[in-house]
Amino acid sequence: MQKINLLYEGKAKKVYTTEDSEVYIVSYKDDATAFNGLKKGTIEGKGAINNRVTNHLMKLLASKGIPTHFVKQLNDCETAVRKVSIVPLEVIVRNIAAGSLSKRLGLPEGTKLATTVLEFCYKNDELGDPMINEYHIAALQLATKEELEKITEYSFKINQILTDYLKDLNIELIDFKLEFGRTSDGKIILADEISPDTCRFWDSKTKEKLDKDRFRRDLGGVEDAYKEILKRLLGE
Ligand code: TMP
Repeated sequence: MQKINLLYEGKAKKVYTTEDSEVYIVSYKDDATAFNGLKKGTIEGKGAINNRVTNHLMKLLASKGIPTHFVKQLNDCETAVRKVSIVPLEVIVRNIAAGSLSKRLGLPEGTKLATTVLEFCYKNDELGDPMINEYHIAALQLATKEELEKITEYSFKINQILTDYLKDLNIELIDFKLEFGRTSDGKIILADEISPDTCRFWDSKTKEKLDKDRFRRDLGGVEDAYKEILKRLLGE
């Protein structure tokens, strides 16, 4: 499989077309940004780690009945994925208060939420990905009612699968962000990535942060945190 044209370059990944009209190649970068691109940096080895962690988790989810875009890992930083058009929503799932939820609602980070919280943000960099609800989604025609129901059903199921899996590795799944896509035949499947860039992972015992918050908040030990996640998940 060969990369033909660069279709899109995001903050952390590039997407290429291939000779197969139904398959794209995703190439993960070491570039890191935060606060909608305001803070920029490099996390050495991040591209390879996020590629491998994402594929590992996508395979786990697929084995439990979640349809995903994963096709085949091509090398350390590149993966073949099914072509989709991305639904312009960032779907955030929260088990424990942290980050923007803690700020907005005045809950100390680490507060257990009585029930899982689902949030939708409109994927639009110019607007800073504002939080929206199902009425905005319908009014802006970002997804149909049926699509949003599928997205919601998959998101809760993914949360259960990942929480249970990570618990055994002494990782607490605080919150995470998902993106979904539409296939050519109109099905909703999981797309994008599931990695320390897009999840909050805390060590279950020490509550040490093992994710991109180390970069966002200048906590140091950024590369080591990504390596630790790779080690716990893939044993390397
Ligand atoms: P937040 O607390 O900053 O809203 O982040 C919630 C979760 O979403 C957290 O696990 C990090 C992830 N996230 C992204 O993947 N991309 C983003 O642009 C933002 C703001 C958060």
